[in-house]
Amino acid sequence: MNITKINGLHGEVTIPGDKSISHRAVMFGALAKGTTEVRNFLQGADCLSTIDCFRKLGIEIENTPDKILIHGKGLNGLSAPAVTLDTGNSGTTTRLISGILAAQPFETTLTGDASIQKRPMKRIIEPLSMMGADIISINGNDCAPLRITGKPLHGIDYHSKVASAQVKSAILLAGLYADGETRVSEPVISRNHSEIMLCYFGADVHTEGKTAIIKPQPDLTAQFVNVPGDISSAAYFIAAGLIVPNSEILIKNVGINPTRDGILKVAIEMGGDITLLNENLDGEPTADILVKSSSLHGITIEGDIIPTLIDELPIINIMAAVADGTTIIKDAAELKVKESNRIDVMVENLSAMGAQITGTDDGMIIEGGKELHGSVIETYADHRIAMSFAIAALIADGETIINGRDVVNISYPTFYEDLEKLKSYS
Ligand code: S3P
Repeated sequence: MNITKINGLHGEVTIPGDKSISHRAVMFGALAKGTTEVRNFLQGADCLSTIDCFRKLGIEIENTPDKILIHGKGLNGLSAPAVTLDTGNSGTTTRLISGILAAQPFETTLTGDASIQKRPMKRIIEPLSMMGADIISINGNDCAPLRITGKPLHGIDYHSKVASAQVKSAILLAGLYADGETRVSEPVISRNHSEIMLCYFGADVHTEGKTAIIKPQPDLTAQFVNVPGDISSAAYFIAAGLIVPNSEILIKNVGINPTRDGILKVAIEMGGDITLLNENLDGEPTADILVKSSSLHGITIEGDIIPTLIDELPIINIMAAVADGTTIIKDAAELKVKESNRIDVMVENLSAMGAQITGTDDGMIIEGGKELHGSVIETYADHRIAMSFAIAALIADGETIINGRDVVNISYPTFYEDLEKLKSYS
């Protein structure tokens, strides 16, 4: 796939459904009594892995072009799968489902692709084991494949070392089955979609500062879920609109939950011309985002904002490479344990395009303003790397070749088509 420089991007784009919320709608729908209807579900490979796992756990799920219907059987309605569950490339599926399986009256084996088999699972094995679960990393390396033998669970008061919604959610889901209250505190608040949606499905869950608290529940009730557009996918068009000269893009119906909106704050702080329109603050808040070409300047990104933009740091790196001055990213060591080591992979690929970037222990330092040139990009099967460099290619001299371009199917199957439509308006 070759991408070359363009003169401007114009028009509207409607972003597919949020990945985190789509996963949770299937999971909580499966555990609720009755039929949950989900609109604007993300038909990305990760969310399809979640559907596949719950079908193997005995839940009937109808996937039609306009909606998903999940025929939930209640908290105790899952049945033992006849085969190993395959979570594909999805960390969210792997970690959240482990919290549910920890309480089931059967044994499950769970694994995923090569990337999943390298990602750290100790962060869920430890707290779920403290609750009484029996979870074994089959290869003894604290990674998948995992063998989970469900047990009666008891509530814990857990202080997580990492700000991770996947860890928090796994514990909260196990907490639905525990014999008392379960509390999870984190150093910085991570995305709170589980808390919002569990409450909507009738769970007894609330937050006190950085602590989420859940009490066991006899049953959840099926709901209607309308999934907002994914701000992590919108981020590529936010960046493109800012860095490609002569651009104006309207990005429609994007989720702007404050635990996810760091990209907007950073883009504005860097000097980006961004306007929110049609804000709707019910449940998961949404807005249309109008983006215009802007001259950006470097900033420091650190501390509490990091979990709110953790998946957007690759595309923020591209903005930083174009910006005047230095951008410093700190407190983001989690980048090393995502779908790829995103510190190393960003340094390798951005350097290949002529940018000045240095990796650090917990982030990177980028001296912006260097002219970028086309290059061969190695995605390391990481969807966010592919999309970030597809945007960088739009402002680089010469041709950029993205090896493994189709990996965008994980979170944004229509990414290249949507990008082409914005180009054809120019
Ligand atoms: C996710 C949480 C984040 C994020 C991932 C999706 C979720 O991971 O990077 O893409 O849906 O809960 P961590 O919670 O591990 O930081």
